[in-house]
Amino acid sequence: MRLNKKHDFPGKLIVVEGVDGSGKSTQLDLLRNWLISRGQSVIFTEWNSSRLISKTIKQAKRSNSLIPNTFSLLHATDFADRLENIIIPALKAGLVVLADRYCFTAFARDVARGVDREWVRNLYGFSVRPDGAFYFQVPIEVSLARIANSRMPGYYESGMDMGLSSDPMQSFQIFQSRIINEYNQMVDEYGFYTMPATQAIHEQQVLFREHATKILNLT
Ligand SMILES: Nc1ncnc2c1ncn2[C@@H]1O[C@H](COP(=O)(O)OP(=O)(O)OP(=O)(O)O)[C@@H](O)[C@H]1O
Ligand SMILES: [Mg+2]
Repeated sequence: MRLNKKHDFPGKLIVVEGVDGSGKSTQLDLLRNWLISRGQSVIFTEWNSSRLISKTIKQAKRSNSLIPNTFSLLHATDFADRLENIIIPALKAGLVVLADRYCFTAFARDVARGVDREWVRNLYGFSVRPDGAFYFQVPIEVSLARIANSRMPGYYESGMDMGLSSDPMQSFQIFQSRIINEYNQMVDEYGFYTMPATQAIHEQQVLFREHATKILNLT
């Protein structure tokens, strides 16, 4: 499986993972601007964003007609499309690829929905192994509080499709706790760098830059 061995493209792949509201996009955005200011050629890609499939995923969510495995297949299609058309060409061209969520999001969310751990890992076995995978670790209360500042957690984000609880907040807590549990188990499995995501934004950015500097061999 490609995911299990180091790639030999000239570019570098850095990914961020963690529950909703853990601060991934905030940190990746700051890192991206910093890398660009240092003259790096950077390309950004995010989960569930391929034009090919995102409409289908939205429709499927609206009709609530899919079982977890078919959902997983749709997200894998989105991912495969972006991998082949964005990520790999950029890595071949020697660029820095920043991915806001990667296959580990599927490993966490789909298993939290009851999909078999090995099945989903095999499904995404074509993924390129990242040069750096950063896991933003926060307690559920912190991520919920951050999200609640700006929006209500979504139906799927709260795992409401699984009938865990009729109370959206309670459902969010149960579902996101399962996701955190899956992420925690992946720290050793995939060598995640754990970001102390409860710290202040600038403190985390210092750590993020330090590690990115090493990964990208910047001086
Ligand atoms: N270290 C921090 N301390 C306090 N608030 C933060 C911190 N980092 C991010 N936030 C705020 O928390 C909210 C969620 O952050 P952000 O959008 O970066 O999370 P995310 O992990 O990308 O979430 P999602 O998975 O939903 O995209 C934002 O309003 C952001 O400004
Ligand atoms: Mg985000």
